[in-house]
Amino acid sequence: MKKIIKKIAVITSGGDAPGMNAALRAVVRSASYYKLECIGVYRGYEGLIDGDFKKMDARSVHQIIQKGGTILKSARSEEFKTKEGRKKAYENLVEAEIDALVIIGGDGTFTGGMIFNKEFKFPVIGIPATIDNDIFGTDYTIGYDTALNNVVEVIDKIRDTASSHNRLFFVEVMGRDSGFIALNAGIGAGAEEILIPEEDMGLDRLLISLEHSRRSGKTSSIVIVAEGDKTGKNVFELASYVEKNLPQYDVRVSVLGHMQRGGPPSCFDRVLASRMGVKAIELLLDGKSNLMVGSIANKMVAVELDKAIKENHRINDEILRISDILTI
Ligand code: F6P
Repeated sequence: MKKIIKKIAVITSGGDAPGMNAALRAVVRSASYYKLECIGVYRGYEGLIDGDFKKMDARSVHQIIQKGGTILKSARSEEFKTKEGRKKAYENLVEAEIDALVIIGGDGTFTGGMIFNKEFKFPVIGIPATIDNDIFGTDYTIGYDTALNNVVEVIDKIRDTASSHNRLFFVEVMGRDSGFIALNAGIGAGAEEILIPEEDMGLDRLLISLEHSRRSGKTSSIVIVAEGDKTGKNVFELASYVEKNLPQYDVRVSVLGHMQRGGPPSCFDRVLASRMGVKAIELLLDGKSNLMVGSIANKMVAVELDKAIKENHRINDEILRISDILTI
């Protein structure tokens, strides 16, 4: 039998991503449109455990669509990984007469949500928001497009100084387990080499390729390194290794860090977040649970949470091929 949903709660959890606010706005406003009560929970699962709740209505989310970060704040909760923590969260939800939970975040958030749903049969719907784009069942996650644009903007600037001094720059971008940012920003910024966790190009090939670039007359080189690349060396070690083996190069390192996650979301992310927020509420009203909203070929879809977590969002082979051709 369908559970009638009258009151929902919403959290943002895990690493913040630009567009989380736009997703929150869409959840709160569509809930209000469909006459549901809506509770915002601060600091992700931590706030669920502590009962840090705030009633929200259409006006509580005005002028947040353009803001980066998350007004609900976020956390990576250790306590929610324990059965006791989840039980406290459940009791708080029951006491507040909340019927369903919308979780906005990445794979850690979805893993927590899925376990919670199984343990307490509590309806949960996920909205994918992470700059890493590493979630199966959606072409794009909220925040990824903005992060890409942030990275390309900075690399364009690095290129100016690199070509003025004929330098080789190693630029580290985020992506512990995923090379989406590195690969796509690398193509967008015309990087000479791109090192990603999904592909081990090997140090020898890197040296050969950089030597080839130098001989072919390139006046600057940019190597983009995803945090989780497979060379076994961090970006500073890689730079020294290349400096030692190719002493003709004047090498510098730039670690872009958390600036990649900040700033106003791109229009693409705002629209994606708005569509996903509305879809999440409509799925709940339709009696659905334990699903994640996705966007496939520009259509809103729903995918089981455990599939979203367990299956791999593979890097597109065509993009890898393009990158090989264009870095010649
Ligand atoms: O998952 C998003 C992400 O930005 C990763 O790309 C990065 O490895 C990680 O979060 C950094 O986490 P934190 O902000 O906790 O240091």
